Amino acid sequence: MNKSLSKVVVLISGSGSNLASIIQNAEKIGIKIECVISNKADAFGLKRAANANITTAIIDNFNFKTRQDFDQALAEKINQFSPKLIILAGFMRILSADFISQFEGKILNIHPALLPKFKGLNTHQRAIDSGEKFAGASVHFVTNELDSGEVIMQKSVEISAAETAKTLAKKVLKQEHILYPKAIQKVLENL
Ligand code: GRF
Repeated sequence: MNKSLSKVVVLISGSGSNLASIIQNAEKIGIKIECVISNKADAFGLKRAANANITTAIIDNFNFKTRQDFDQALAEKINQFSPKLIILAGFMRILSADFISQFEGKILNIHPALLPKFKGLNTHQRAIDSGEKFAGASVHFVTNELDSGEVIMQKSVEISAAETAKTLAKKVLKQEHILYPKAIQKVLENL
């Protein structure tokens, strides 16, 4: 049965709540997480992975002089697993053009906004400040331009009158956990 599962690698930098949801849904959506790689040694997501008996690796960007060197080490580690997809789940590093072109069409990211609105950081506060009625999350392919690759799936939530960036982040994150596994499944079906 395991033979039909698609191999993936997940990259994280922090809490890894999206990773937890992907782990939980892995078999259902037909993936096997071969490795979780973090650029931060203290990322809580590494514990989540270890608890699920998933191989982990730390590639700390502070140990590399240049972005290129870091990306090369990252690519070498990823290539050890020959994954079908590279899933960014709260990975807070911008990847170089070289890296992205090596894995074109295989890198997914989740962004906490309804792209193409609110690329970059601080999305929730910016959505509230702009008077938006809806916020949400988008899963998209990663390209050279930040948060600009083709959107695969989105989920929106309503912004209430009393909304703060914190309450909105919580609301959106809950939807991210539902959205990301579905979007991964959709991509794999179309590969
Ligand atoms: C999520 O909000 C995701 O959209 C963004 O980073 C956050 C990661 O959260 N890219 P977690 O580490 O999955 O809990």
